[in-house]
Amino acid sequence: MIKKRFLYISLLSILGLGIAALIAYYDISKEKNSPKTHVIANNFGGPFTLTNHLGKDVTEKNFTGQYRLIYFGFTYCPAICPTELQKITASLKGLGNKADSIKPIFITIDPERDTVDVMREYVALFHPNFSGLTGTLEQIKQAADAYKIYYAKAKDDTMQEYTMDHSSFIYFIDPEDNLLRIFKTEDTSSDIINFINSTL
Ligand code: NI
Repeated sequence: MIKKRFLYISLLSILGLGIAALIAYYDISKEKNSPKTHVIANNFGGPFTLTNHLGKDVTEKNFTGQYRLIYFGFTYCPAICPTELQKITASLKGLGNKADSIKPIFITIDPERDTVDVMREYVALFHPNFSGLTGTLEQIKQAADAYKIYYAKAKDDTMQEYTMDHSSFIYFIDPEDNLLRIFKTEDTSSDIINFINSTL
């Protein structure tokens, strides 16, 4: 009788240890595999309706379910915007097959000049998967506000044409709309590649 009870208790302990080990293993592997450990903001962004570079209306729902690299800028930008879009392009090329699951998106904050035709010609200079989004002033304002982008027209008397002041962030967003990382101008394409390789 005593032996039997001892055996029973031993078996229970082993079972308990086994379950504890399984839970610990599950937690560790979940942490390792889940990009959620890097989340900066959940449900980042918000509803928008814009027009892509092919003239098709799109909303944020067209991109949910995909990893995204999103950049807001304008095609007349002399230096920073093309550099950042080139950085996204180089990162995607450096990521090989992984790039297939990442959608690059360029959203203009200068919709008065960045028409669908201008956007189509401009995104063609960068990665072939780019979506270039424009819209009305109101639509762009809504999208920029949702993604916490500052922008404003800037002009002084020496200028023929206005330029745009704007935030320069490359957002890396996961398929569930969580913001995983904000790359700034000082980050290189290697920084982007390393981060994405450690996440996906
Ligand atoms: Ni710019």
